[in-house]
Amino acid sequence: MTIDLNRPSSNGSPAALASSPTPQSETDSAAATTAAATTAAPTDLDPADLLARFRSVRALTEHLCEPLEVEDYVIQTMPDVSPAKWHLAHTTWFFETFLLQAHASGYEVLHPMYNYLFNSYYNAVGYRHCRPKRGLISRPTVAEIYDYRRYVDQHVEQFVEEVDPATWAAAASVLELGLHHEQQHQELMLMDLKHVFSENPLFPAYRERDTVEKTRSVNNAPSAPTALRWIDHPGGISWTGHADDDPGFHFDNEGPRHRVWLEPFSIASRMVTNAEYLAFIADGGYERPELWLSLGWDWAQREGWTAPLYWQDHGAGAGTDTGSFADTGTATERDAPSADIADWKLMTLAGVLALDPEEPVVHLSYFEADAYATWAGARLPTEHEWEAVAAERPIRGNLVESGRYHPAATPAPAEARTSDDVQQLFGEAWEWTASAYAPYPGYRPAEGALGEYNGKFMSNQYVLRGGSCATSHSHLRATYRNFFPPDARWPFTGLRLAKDAG
Ligand SMILES: [Fe+2]
Repeated sequence: MTIDLNRPSSNGSPAALASSPTPQSETDSAAATTAAATTAAPTDLDPADLLARFRSVRALTEHLCEPLEVEDYVIQTMPDVSPAKWHLAHTTWFFETFLLQAHASGYEVLHPMYNYLFNSYYNAVGYRHCRPKRGLISRPTVAEIYDYRRYVDQHVEQFVEEVDPATWAAAASVLELGLHHEQQHQELMLMDLKHVFSENPLFPAYRERDTVEKTRSVNNAPSAPTALRWIDHPGGISWTGHADDDPGFHFDNEGPRHRVWLEPFSIASRMVTNAEYLAFIADGGYERPELWLSLGWDWAQREGWTAPLYWQDHGAGAGTDTGSFADTGTATERDAPSADIADWKLMTLAGVLALDPEEPVVHLSYFEADAYATWAGARLPTEHEWEAVAAERPIRGNLVESGRYHPAATPAPAEARTSDDVQQLFGEAWEWTASAYAPYPGYRPAEGALGEYNGKFMSNQYVLRGGSCATSHSHLRATYRNFFPPDARWPFTGLRLAKDAG
């Protein structure tokens, strides 16, 4: 299809727009996934192919902005949330700074202050605007940011079309990195928009339900009980991480590939559902410190957590303020949460919906996921256990291409429900693992500013695996390591249980 780069497309589906070959989270803040360099030989990247992928990724970003009014672009509801306008500009700045300024001879930046405004965390590139104050920036306008995108897009097009082989050898991997960086920000933008709309008492829908429902049948028929099964793994020596001889893109934190020892374990056949998580709540899950890590219990008490982010308790115990979220009061101030799932609603990107008992529970912190696992008599899988299972299976699931932007229950077809295979490994929601985000043996960050992409965030965070309903298929791999601090709840985060064998 032809994408008009002069304005956002009006009717392209995410699937059509994101048709390039293959997330990690780039949270820009304390959290984020990312990458520095790819090990693919730059000269293996064909300019025409990469330019086609560039157009597709850039178009998807703007497609995701189509439902927005101009007011929606500017709001920042907490320090971790960035305005949509900032995401549009920052992803553009990335190409301008690391590709055009570094490799395109004679390139002139559009505005001398954009480097200050739209640099996220790269100390090597200079001083930058205060992250928590991004929502205070009304100028440049949204229209001017779209002009900025056009300006940089045109120069990238010209650069790739005219580049000489020697320059391309140095620049190709930077352009590819920029595409994956923008795909990370596409997911961040959906996370952030959901939080922005959730802070509005009108709870506006990002995309109306009827639009979302058109894709529901693809991944999710009317719910029916799906039994959780345990899939056994024999353990042993397991290779983990991205191999150097694999030409596909990967972030630097996915390597070096190395051996790990796995004790025999079992992993759940699917993710934990809303109904199962409500049973944890109804059993006093948020009131029993023995289930919680000490730091998590402190967080839950201080923040007044009584349910996952975006859950709304409309039961009698919720009082008269049924429009508020269940986590807006402290546990001691509120009555007991309802144990009836019919009383619960959920803020989604399609507005406030009934809580579907079979959908994977989403928007949990690591602390909540760990407490649930303890309550369930199980544990979270390690990232290496997860990868050993996922590496043998195809990447398919409810990803951003579905246009659903919300997790779906396990597939409806009878054969999928009776299969012994592991479901929902990819898409739906990022799965918290028990693994701290740390460097693999032999890991070295890349030289220069792009070496700041991943390595400097390797403390006080946990690894998540598998992608989400906001992740592009072309961005996902079994070796992909996303990471967030253990208290983060605004990403699309859920969990899958594991347990030791025997
Ligand atoms: Fe970024």
